[in-house]
Amino acid sequence: MHILLVASAFNSLTQRVLAELQDRGHTVGVALALGDDDALREAVRVHAPQLVVAPMLTTAIPEDIWSAHTCLIVHPGPPGDRGPSSLDWTLQGAAESWGVTVLEAVAEMDAGDVWAWSPLKLPPLAGKSDLYRGEVADAALDAVLLAVERFASGRHKPQKQEPEALAAGWRPFMKQEERRIDWTCDPTEAVLRKLRAADSQPGVLDELLGARWYLHGGHPEDELRGGRPGELIATRAGAICRATVDGAVWIAQLRPWREPGSRLPSYKLPAVEALDDLLPFEVPEVPAPLQLPAGRCTFSDIRYSEQGDVGVLNFSFPGGAMSTTQCRRLLEAYRFACTRPTSVLVLGGVRDFFSNGIHLNVIEAAEDPAEESWANIHAMNDLVEAVLTTTDRLTVSALGGNAAAGGVMLALAADEVWCRDGAVLNPHYKLMGLHGSEYWTYILPRRVGESEALRLTQSALPVSAKRAVELGMAERVLQAAPEELGAEVARLAAELAASPELADRIARKKAMREHDESVKPLQRYRDEELTHMRRNFFDAREPHAGLRSAFVRKEKALHTPPHVARLGLAD
Ligand code: COA
Repeated sequence: MHILLVASAFNSLTQRVLAELQDRGHTVGVALALGDDDALREAVRVHAPQLVVAPMLTTAIPEDIWSAHTCLIVHPGPPGDRGPSSLDWTLQGAAESWGVTVLEAVAEMDAGDVWAWSPLKLPPLAGKSDLYRGEVADAALDAVLLAVERFASGRHKPQKQEPEALAAGWRPFMKQEERRIDWTCDPTEAVLRKLRAADSQPGVLDELLGARWYLHGGHPEDELRGGRPGELIATRAGAICRATVDGAVWIAQLRPWREPGSRLPSYKLPAVEALDDLLPFEVPEVPAPLQLPAGRCTFSDIRYSEQGDVGVLNFSFPGGAMSTTQCRRLLEAYRFACTRPTSVLVLGGVRDFFSNGIHLNVIEAAEDPAEESWANIHAMNDLVEAVLTTTDRLTVSALGGNAAAGGVMLALAADEVWCRDGAVLNPHYKLMGLHGSEYWTYILPRRVGESEALRLTQSALPVSAKRAVELGMAERVLQAAPEELGAEVARLAAELAASPELADRIARKKAMREHDESVKPLQRYRDEELTHMRRNFFDAREPHAGLRSAFVRKEKALHTPPHVARLGLAD
């Protein structure tokens, strides 16, 4: 079929729906609904789609479009649920199960006939965006694929929603008053629920150290105690720990509140960095042990564990962004992991983003963004180099979620890449005005060949997990729910470690690395890439700084980007 996706942004779910419909042989176009109905009408006219699917839409489709074409809307709630803050209310209300529905567009929001729906189990600890990219996206794909199949059959009659159910299901937009934390009486569990329901957007508005902030993140702490509820009691890895009436919670990031109309920027930063001089010097930094004792419940963004011959280095950074400090901490942990007597070392293996490369927000906030970019790309390169030059064991990158730019190259530096089904890879830098580094000029062609590497980096389009395997970018697609990923990765890694060919494989990879080094040393790849990157970062005529600024400030696109608008149309 020829399907047109209409979405408010080319976001993770839209990218996944696009990639998975393409995997199933459909031709798919994309039009962003950015408030210009005529532009949308024109896209519909040009595409003349058999079906319109809206994976993520915050505005209404004009009536003349939905009355002439079947338009299917993805709603992140089960049948009967309606309204713009569905996941927020659900997470704040501590439900255990939920669902995603595909409805036909009609005049009233979420009131159309139901074409398909899929249930989901809510994970105990994930925040809203993580849930959205994980269980919600999985359920959305199941429901969209079923709805498309039903529509294609020409025989399916969608189910009407009854007026009483529709009236009962409506829940309004969730305001900050409803998110507010009352530190004097909210127990830890309620504080965490409010934080998670607002993570990563819009955050919970609160006061701290005499200023107003949106709080982002939310992890329980089982040992640190003390202070008045709400008081800052510790820091760790850029996050802050605040006392509650019955315990404490960790908050990873802060975004400053601004007066309406203010021209001052407001974007998220690691909490300690956002507080800067406001942070009282007596608040202790309490590092987490890399190997957490069993049963401990605290915040740590890097963890190492071992089972027999397998080492697992878990890491998880908000938004998948990795600052200079985060890269250096991860490299230190990686070096430690390499001192351990294991034969297989797994990187990642947790839900949500694997990595999205250098930390654009931290860079934007730096006194000298070009210098900070330079430090960050070097720190990222050092990490990738350490993986590439590990020749005494087999390395595996296990992607629970998406990866982009340098984050993809970090994954591909390992000997094997395993992607959870539904992970989306964006192996390109172009949209950020960067040539790219992380040894991509070595890593990508050695897996997919020179011409495919060029196509992937120039087309700047997402690649599904299945397609990544077909292209040679990955070895396996893991059929596991986000919460089951760790166990599945551990099982497969143990199998790999027990394989009789392992010693041979390690010897072959060492020989291959030595051969590649003799043909062209890694340092040369790095130097060549960095020559371009230096210009990208430091030359005022380059577009990167402007693109970065727009990205961190979440400036809305004015039109569908040309490389996306061309999709699904004959050349
Ligand atoms: N630096 C800082 N923040 C980043 C980031 C980066 N490199 N990559 C993603 N994020 C943040 C986003 O701002 C967003 O924040 P929010 O939760 O406050 O909205 C969050 O991570 C999720 O990203 P989002 O863009 O909403 O997710 P997506 O799945 O729709 O799109 C990408 C993912 C990777 C395609 C997109 O985020 C992107 O282009 N990132 C930049 C990649 C890059 O160029 N890296 C630098 C070169 S190495």
